[in-house]
Amino acid sequence: DWTAEHIIDELVSDVRTQVGDGRVLLAISGGVDSSTLGLLLARAVGEKLTAVFIDHGLLRLGEREQVEAALKPLGVNLVTVDARAEFMAALDGVSDPEQKRKIIGREFIRAFEREARAYGPFDFLAQGTLYPDVIESAGGEGAANIKSHHNVGGLPDDLAFKLVEPFRTLFKDEVREIARLLGLPDHIRMRHPFPGPGLAIRCLGAISEEKLDILRRVDDIFISGLREFGLYDGCSQALAILTPIQSVGVMGDERTYSYTAALRAVTTDDFMTAEWARLPYEFLATMSNRIVNQVHEINRVVYDITGKPPATIEWE
Ligand code: XMP
Repeated sequence: DWTAEHIIDELVSDVRTQVGDGRVLLAISGGVDSSTLGLLLARAVGEKLTAVFIDHGLLRLGEREQVEAALKPLGVNLVTVDARAEFMAALDGVSDPEQKRKIIGREFIRAFEREARAYGPFDFLAQGTLYPDVIESAGGEGAANIKSHHNVGGLPDDLAFKLVEPFRTLFKDEVREIARLLGLPDHIRMRHPFPGPGLAIRCLGAISEEKLDILRRVDDIFISGLREFGLYDGCSQALAILTPIQSVGVMGDERTYSYTAALRAVTTDDFMTAEWARLPYEFLATMSNRIVNQVHEINRVVYDITGKPPATIEWE
């Protein structure tokens, strides 16, 4: 009889058999897969696990604190690395989306290697690979290859660990069920996917601290609003985009010339095709009001009503 409890016991015992007394390194992204893996490994090997969370400065408002608050109390040996300055420096003046991805991927590997050496030596590298990922990489031209994702880079030989991938036979729903039993809070357990390059590909063109800060506040109003109105779980993914468009507006007696923010929400089964979410007008009106009232750098809000194809979910 299949129960998630039973699966957890089995995974814990398999991990213990595989790693023995070895030390395990894990990169935490803040998503459900790596977070759940962190909890599972903490249960299996305790302090032999080092989970590294790299804050690249492209995260959502409060995300780093949320990840820490979710994992540390449940016994995950979590190291948070503040790498914001180095990512910002590397991305300075870069506007091409694929260039941004390449740079972020490279900087991520660089920071991760440095931490691996600082806290090492490690015998194993754990990854939250799921069954669909296994199929996809076997197939070659999967969705992961359309854009260069940051989670695919290689590590140098002296960091060539043996892999621990306990979720290789599982689907996302099963990981979510395991996460529930291991005590992962729902806001992470049921979270929409968030791309590795984070807000960098939602801040169109060259990024800056100022623009990221604007986008972070807009995004937080939108995502919190979706949760507040009970609409979050009905969308597969929701995002805010900061466009480089400046347009004329009026605020009180004054003429403004400020940025346009775009909101996007989609429903999809596989992220290969998607429909724009038919969010209620009243909700959109509330979001628009909140955004222009609370984020003074924005004087215009638009909602993206394009499907995929022809548009992608992200704007970059
Ligand atoms: P698109 O924009 O191609 O996105 O329709 C499909 C899904 O992939 C995510 N995505 C990424 N995830 N690194 C990631 O980890 C990336 O570079 C990247 N680009 C897109 C996107 O958020 C959506 O869920």
